[in-house]
Amino acid sequence: MNAPPYVVVPQYLHEPGLGMVRDVARVEYWPEESVMPREKLLAAVATADGILCHPPARCNRELLDRAPRLRVISNVAVGYDNVDVPACTERGIIVCNTPGVLTDATADATLALMLAVCRRAIDNDRFTRSGNWHYWTPRLLLGQDLTEATVGIVGMGRIGLEVARRVRAFRTRILYHNRHRRPEVEAELGAIYVDLPTLLAESDFVCLHVPANAETRHLISAAELAQMKPTAYLINVARGAVVDQKALAEALKAGRIAGAGLDVYDPEPIAADDPLLSLENCVLFPHVASATLRCRQRMSELAARNLLAALAGETPPACVNPEVLKN
Ligand code: DGY
Repeated sequence: MNAPPYVVVPQYLHEPGLGMVRDVARVEYWPEESVMPREKLLAAVATADGILCHPPARCNRELLDRAPRLRVISNVAVGYDNVDVPACTERGIIVCNTPGVLTDATADATLALMLAVCRRAIDNDRFTRSGNWHYWTPRLLLGQDLTEATVGIVGMGRIGLEVARRVRAFRTRILYHNRHRRPEVEAELGAIYVDLPTLLAESDFVCLHVPANAETRHLISAAELAQMKPTAYLINVARGAVVDQKALAEALKAGRIAGAGLDVYDPEPIAADDPLLSLENCVLFPHVASATLRCRQRMSELAARNLLAALAGETPPACVNPEVLKN
């Protein structure tokens, strides 16, 4: 009988994924929120057939050089900027992610940020607790409407589409910008395809749903922020590097845009002296857009299915470097 594969899980992993892997493999498990200490991880991967991990666990060349038997890295996230995919491909290592299962939770979190920032949820909460609330007054803590607003979606992939479906219920006008037009989305939602400058100039909410790559780095910088309306909000649940964070803080401070709702930063965690932390016209989440128990469980399950399929020599449900499978 063949020895079971050896798998390293260097961070806490929800069920059912952990149990699924344990049923098949010998598992080195680090059950903490923080990643297994680097030296321990580098030692553990020396004989590993698979790694099941997520950011911030870094699977870079240093780690790959220490893992001569490695066949698969299954990331418990849709993003995989913590994995050096080209280096894995060179070595024939399969890289997998978890698309689809976190779409709804992330779209819900986008709506939470939009409503929180335009209806000043944090200010309202603080004020209610402060003891300064004496009257209902006509100008108390005024916000702006999502209802009948123009929402601009940058990146009409799975998550962008689910955000568009949700904001449609608010009778919004939906603009979108994407690598290619999506006629079926236009037909379903009446979404209008526009170039980025038009989207920026006309939207009351600009929602970012693009992956992080060289093309999207600082897609929203000082020049783009200057094209937005002073009453508009920027919402980012994609990746921090898509926005020039310094330029955003300056725009928010100067009132060049009304506010921002952010789940992601560059770097993460956000630096303790980042100017965003002292600004009141932004709502800041700590990269939790997919953080519902059901979503986390589904992510763990899909990541386990990916890993087990790859170890069994089968095609994983979600592989980001399928060219490796051909060999
Ligand atoms: C992802 O999956 O890439 C998210 O950012 C974390 O859930």
